[in-house]
Amino acid sequence: MRYLTFALAKGRLAYKTLELLEKIGVNMEEMKDKNTRKLIFTNEDLKIRMFLSKASDVPTYVEYGAADIGVVGKDTILEEGRKLYEVMDLGFGKCSMCVCGPESAREYLEHQQLIRVASKYPNIAKDYFNHKKHQTVEIIKLHGSVELAPIVGLSEVIVDIVETGTTLKENGLKVLEEICPLSARIVVNQVSMKMENERIGQLLGALKKVI
Ligand code: PRP
Repeated sequence: MRYLTFALAKGRLAYKTLELLEKIGVNMEEMKDKNTRKLIFTNEDLKIRMFLSKASDVPTYVEYGAADIGVVGKDTILEEGRKLYEVMDLGFGKCSMCVCGPESAREYLEHQQLIRVASKYPNIAKDYFNHKKHQTVEIIKLHGSVELAPIVGLSEVIVDIVETGTTLKENGLKVLEEICPLSARIVVNQVSMKMENERIGQLLGALKKVI
C-alpha cells in the first residue's frame, strides 16, 4: 500500500484538523509538538504521511499530486484557483471575505467609482469587483495588516477576512459589503480521487460522522 499524503495549512486550522483526525483514529503525535522543526510526519500503521505548509501552497501540492489530500481555508482555495476537488466543509475556521473601509467609502461603492482596493487576495478582489459588481478598480496586493491601507491613504477600501470584527473596530473601519462565507475545507487531488477512491472515501465517511 502506498502512503496517502496530507498537506495541512500551518496554524490554527492545522491544530483543529489534528484534533479531528484523532477522533477518527488517525494519530500524528509528533506533529503536535510546536517546537519541532521537522517538516513531514508518518504514521506507519496507517500508511499516512502529513506535512504542514504555508496555506497558499496547500492547493499547489494537491493539484500536482505531491499531496493527495489538503486541509485549507476556502479563502485560499478561491484565491489560488487550482485544479482540485473540494470535497468537505469541516465547519471550523468560520469567517467571511468582505469589502471593508471607513463609512465614508460607502458612496464610492454605490456610485461605481474608480477606487483603489488593497488586499492579500487580489484574485478574489478582482473577481468580485470586475465580474460581480462590474466596477473597474485598481487592485493593490499587500501581504498583511491590510487594515492599514485605507487609514494611511493607500486605498479607499480593502478586501479581507473578517472573523470577530475586532481588527476593523479597533481601526475605525466597517464591513461595507460581504463577498462570501469562509471555513476550512478538505481538498483532494483529481487523480488520487480515482486511484485511491476507497481509502479516501473511508476517511471522508469517518470524518463526516464526527463533524
Ligand atoms: C486576519 C485578517 C484580519 C483579521 C480579522 O489577519 O486579515 O486582519 O485576521 O480577524 P478579526 O475580525 O477577528 O479581527 P491575520 O491575523 O491573519 O494577520 P495579517 O493580516 O497580518 O496577515
